[in-house]
Parts: sequence; structure tokens; C-alpha cells
Amino acid sequence: MAKAHDVAYVIYQVNDLDLMQTFMHDFGLATALKTDDMLYMRAAGPIPYCHVTLRGTENKFIGAGILVNSREDLDELAALPGSSAVEAIEAPGGGWRVRMSTPDGVRIDAVWGQEPAERLTRRQPNPFNSAFVKQRANASLRPVREPGLVERLGHFVLRVSDHDASVAWFKSRFGMLPTDLMCVPGNPDQVIGTFLRMDRGQELVDHHSMLVVQAQDLGVHHCSFEMLDLDAVMGAHDYLERKGYRLDVGVGRHLLGSQIFDYWRDPFGFRVEHYTDGDSVNADYVPQKFSGFADETTQWGMDPNKEFFH
Ligand SMILES: [Fe+2]
Repeated sequence: MAKAHDVAYVIYQVNDLDLMQTFMHDFGLATALKTDDMLYMRAAGPIPYCHVTLRGTENKFIGAGILVNSREDLDELAALPGSSAVEAIEAPGGGWRVRMSTPDGVRIDAVWGQEPAERLTRRQPNPFNSAFVKQRANASLRPVREPGLVERLGHFVLRVSDHDASVAWFKSRFGMLPTDLMCVPGNPDQVIGTFLRMDRGQELVDHHSMLVVQAQDLGVHHCSFEMLDLDAVMGAHDYLERKGYRLDVGVGRHLLGSQIFDYWRDPFGFRVEHYTDGDSVNADYVPQKFSGFADETTQWGMDPNKEFFH
């Protein structure tokens, strides 16, 4: 079975690439390439781009790219019904992809062979002085209210018409593992949301690279970018607020995955998240069930409303 290594990119279509580019710069991404019809934004890490925008009249989510481990994985996926052939990618970093569609028609590209980009760096993570462990000696912190620099795309969330069918689709094509399960409030037997992570054996990975959740409005719920540390999240929060952007929910700490989160809306209404300090798990993690409402998923900070995921 093909194995996914990480998420690569999310793809949107909007009617104004300049507006998207300005927001993304303020949100902490850098331009990898901009043409008349395409915008490729990158994070600090080595993946050449992680947020793609096509120019088009309708503003909509198109899909996502997921990195797989080998050319053989691409060949295997290309042989499945409905898949494209293995295609060369005409974008920064090149590489090859296979285009597929989820049961709801969301485009998912399996990607392999991209040339890594040179890292962008602004600063090192700030050492934290907890009550028991002092990591900072004879030194002060001077965080800045600035766009910050997104480290990487961490995950994206899909709202789907048939939860079980979509989860099976991602598991069978990418070997993803279920981390935690969201159930109907009061009915732990009915799973309506599954957090999926990459299977890298004993290596620690993010609590989730995806969440698949049953919903009536289909498509993307949000995409989420990892920040260097808490100062980066808070500095970016103040900066985005000062620039007049629309706060969605944040700052707070999630229950499932434990991330410190901060959700914003881009100029087209799409929800985008900054996060830091999420859980790391490996293949030994035993899935937990959560049976409650969305407004019970924040441990401290701003609560989302009950219908947050729907
Ligand atoms: Fe998230």
C-alpha cells in the first residue's frame, strides 16, 4: 500500500490573486511563484510551496496534495480507477503527481520527488522558563508583533457527505492511521469525525494531518499552519488584528491534539489556522473517543460555537 509521509499543499481558486497574496504575506507565508493565473505560497520549511491559488471567477476550495514515499507509490495509485497517470509537476520544486478524487469529488494529488527548497529562517524558537525547568539564563525575550513566519502546512479538514467512505478512501490510498474519533454527542458508537495521521512507525508525527468530518456543507473546513512557538502565534495574532483582518476563533488550546490555535478568515472567507505545541504521537497511540459538542473542544481560551465543525 502507498504510504503518505506528510501533507504537501492545499489548493484554492479565487478571483483576485493579489488580494490572496497580500493576506498570505500578512499571515506569514512567502511567495514561491506568482504568474498571471497561479500563486504558490511557501512556508519556512523545505517543501517548495504549501498553499496554491488558481485564478478563477468562483471562489472555492479545490483540493490538496499529499506527499508519498516513492515513485512506486505513485505508480500504484495511478493504476487505481479514476486516477490520472503519473504527471510531471510544472511548479517550483518540480516532482511528479497522480491526481485523484475523493468520494465527494475533492481533488487529492499524491506527490513525490519534489526538489526541497532552501529553508527560510527568521529566529530560533524562544526558550521557555517553566516552574521547574529554566531554559533561559541571563537572557530576555523580545517577541515582536509581526506576521511571523509559518513553519509548515500541518493539516487540513474536510467536511464530507459519507464519513466512513471518505475515511476508508484516505486509509486505503495513503495508509493513514486514525488518531482520535469524534462521536455523536451522547452516542459514542456513532463516529462522525476521524483525525488521521501519517504512519511512520515509531517516529513521532503530528496528532493529525487531516480531520474528516460528516457534514451537510461539503468541502474544506480549514487548513492549518504550524508556527515556531507561542510568541510567534501571539505576535501574528496582534499583527493580523491590527491590520483589520477577521478573527474566527482564537487564541485557545484544543482538546483533541492539544494545539494552541488561532483561526482567521482570509479575504475570501476561507478559514485558516495558526497553531503551535500540538501533540506528537507514533504508531503506538491508541485512539480515544470524544463524544461532545464543538464548544467543548477548547481547554482554555476562546470557545468555538456549537456548530463549529458543521
Ligand atoms: Fe486545525
